[in-house]
Amino acid sequence: MAKLKVAVFISSRGSNMQSLVRACSDPEFPAEIVSVLSNNPEAAGLKFAAEHSIATRVIDHRDFASRAEFEAEINRYLETVKVDLICLAGFMRLLTADFVNRWRDRILNIHPSLLPAFKGLHVHERAIESGARFTGCTVHYVRPEMDDGPIIAQAVVPILQDDTPDALAARILEQEHRLYPLALRLVASKRVKIHGSRVLIENGAEESAVLINPPLDIS
Ligand code: GRF
Repeated sequence: MAKLKVAVFISSRGSNMQSLVRACSDPEFPAEIVSVLSNNPEAAGLKFAAEHSIATRVIDHRDFASRAEFEAEINRYLETVKVDLICLAGFMRLLTADFVNRWRDRILNIHPSLLPAFKGLHVHERAIESGARFTGCTVHYVRPEMDDGPIIAQAVVPILQDDTPDALAARILEQEHRLYPLALRLVASKRVKIHGSRVLIENGAEESAVLINPPLDIS
């Protein structure tokens, strides 16, 4: 089966992009990263992608008068690289409904909370402040509303008594690096079916894989 061609959109560090690139380096993995696109010319992740012989492209939103023009340039570029799927990975620009609808069911995002809780920014501060015992991360299909869309996979991370936003973010990021490759593998192997607002995983054996629930390790 032909591999799914993926463009990863980043804005800075790009550690989730790196986890996808590493997963795709396995010849058996059903997807390949054909491009890494950034709206920020300074994004650290661009260097990693170039070093791994992946095409990179900067489309700086500040060069465009409107979001629509910025996105039109992205679309022109994506047509040239023949992309099947977009993975947002720390891409810090909101996408318009026009863009999202054009790519409907072909854009994934990773968000560092257990959606639908804690959409938006400053999620770790808000999760700690809420008093919740657990948070985590989510890979989901993108819909026009921010951090909305059918959930593919989640990882649960406990919130510890003395947690700081940075410490919690670091533990969640470790799980993000496991979760995004897992979700992409499921999508690329066509086992993910969208039913309204829900995702069902075809092939029951894979179903348990969509929840990563590491045990609380208190010694
Ligand atoms: C991650 O926490 C991701 O969930 C969020 O932004 C962060 C990006 O980190 N959307 P990186 O650039 O992938 O290292």
